Amino acid sequence: MNQTTMRRTLIAGNWKMNGSVAANAVLLEGIRSGAGGLAADLTVCVPSPYLAQAQSALSGSVVAWGGQDLSLHASGAYTGEVSGAMLRDFGCQFVIVGHSERRSLHGETDAIVAGKALQALACGLTPIVCVGETLEEREAGHTDSVVSRQLKAVLDVLGQQLGKIVVAYEPVWAIGTGKTATPEMAQQVHAQLRRLLVGADAVAGSGVRLLYGGSMKPDNARDLLAMADIDGGLIGGASLKAEDFLAIARSA
Ligand code: PGA
Repeated sequence: MNQTTMRRTLIAGNWKMNGSVAANAVLLEGIRSGAGGLAADLTVCVPSPYLAQAQSALSGSVVAWGGQDLSLHASGAYTGEVSGAMLRDFGCQFVIVGHSERRSLHGETDAIVAGKALQALACGLTPIVCVGETLEEREAGHTDSVVSRQLKAVLDVLGQQLGKIVVAYEPVWAIGTGKTATPEMAQQVHAQLRRLLVGADAVAGSGVRLLYGGSMKPDNARDLLAMADIDGGLIGGASLKAEDFLAIARSA
């Protein structure tokens, strides 16, 4: 819990394209059995084929589950895509939207990401909207303008629904690299994102949870989560080990 604002910490795992039925069973049971009494909300975002497994392993626990992407469309001739309604059908609460790997490897533009955030909300899912700059953009001094552009594209379409999203700041250069933004660097960007949110809607914007993602691990989580506008984490690599994931959640 962020004591000054009463935003409850959210620790979200992003498994990416990892897992197997056997490995997931161990991981999900480890998370479920260690999740009681934590001060943070927990969720795991799993590959779509494992949603039913996550649902059966986590139902009745305090751990939520979600998807890593959803279609821009509600249904129809979109081979290979998964709709928000399908994610809801398997009990998902969350869905990651606009992860940098979707933006860079699958050509997702700010407009597509905004449309997917709306689609998620229409299906009763909480979108975890990802923003973040590349190393070149940071070195050119464009961090604020890049993340602001990415977030504004979503805020522009949300209207009254602004308070229903989660935002994740993930500097692209820190994802999976072992390089973490320092708590101060991350806080600086989070403060800028907070200004935009509050500027769009003072009350709803101050309640939106801002997660940090990018090589968050048990040994750096406490310092990151201590910052005023860091309300949780989006965890990739360290979410694949129950002990590490829970250790991060215990740092909150
Ligand atoms: P990482 O990934 O924790 O492995 O850096 C974070 C993410 O991409 O969401």
